[in-house]
Amino acid sequence: MESTVPPAPAAALPTPAPAAEVVLTVAGISKSFGDNHVLKDFSLTLRRGENVVVLGKSGSGKSVLIKCIIGLLKPDAGTITVLGQPVATLSHVALDALRAKVGFLFQSNALYDSMTVRENLLFPLRRHWLADHQGQEDQLVLQALDDVGLPQTIDQLPAELSGGQRKRIALARTLIVPPEIILYDEPTTGLDPVTAREIDQLIRHVQQKYHASSLIISHDMSCVRLTSDRVILLSEGRSYAEGTYAELLASTDPIVHAFFE
Ligand SMILES: Nc1ncnc2c1ncn2[C@@H]1O[C@H](COP(=O)(O)OP(=O)(O)OP(=O)(O)O)[C@@H](O)[C@H]1O
Ligand SMILES: [Mg+2]
Repeated sequence: MESTVPPAPAAALPTPAPAAEVVLTVAGISKSFGDNHVLKDFSLTLRRGENVVVLGKSGSGKSVLIKCIIGLLKPDAGTITVLGQPVATLSHVALDALRAKVGFLFQSNALYDSMTVRENLLFPLRRHWLADHQGQEDQLVLQALDDVGLPQTIDQLPAELSGGQRKRIALARTLIVPPEIILYDEPTTGLDPVTAREIDQLIRHVQQKYHASSLIISHDMSCVRLTSDRVILLSEGRSYAEGTYAELLASTDPIVHAFFE
């Protein structure tokens, strides 16, 4: 009698990791100023825990994009969804509540010159968390300063700090109400290369410690290499190319290649 050989068990397939939740979607936005068509059907997605860099030459519309995301500018077409909420339709109150979850690091830092570091850091805490954290404020300020390695500056004024230190304090102010999404507008522009690389490391540290998702606007290629999980090249108002730094570096497309020369 023929013995029946039981079929070999199918090789176990690795279960694909579930794709992380999308926290920010920019879907086909356009924005013009008169005849100047800055963004033309631009799209991107940002997933939880991810760092996406938008790379583009000066005047390509990077700051316009970031202003649309935080609701300072209204796109002519397309939609922007942040943490599940369509930005354009939100009331002032809802937009304000959403902004508490989205940290924005201005290129200019936007620190208050007449306030000490402590007062600058208390500002968002009092604005967004109100009574919740009375009594813990000093501890939260120190924690945020510790995150950026500058606890000793607590009683100093911004004018007494270096450019790199001011950038760190601006980041500490963003972290004090822990954000789910951080938008960085040119975080290393105007800094010397050594300080710029320290800021890059800090951006990675923040990503790991807070599991925050970040959109980083930059044309500093070292910053792009060191901080990005994915890069989107903004050119002629569109998402022209997308990939990891290494993928874009290997591209033979002349527009992509020009950024790596
Ligand atoms: N409020 C505005 N009114 C009119 N035009 C504007 C306005 N804001 C931006 N623009 C125009 O949109 C275009 C893109 O500007 P944007 O500031 O987004 O460039 P960018 O990519 O951030 O450049 P950079 O790298 O120099 O910061 C420019 O031509 C600019 O003149
Ligand atoms: Mg800009």
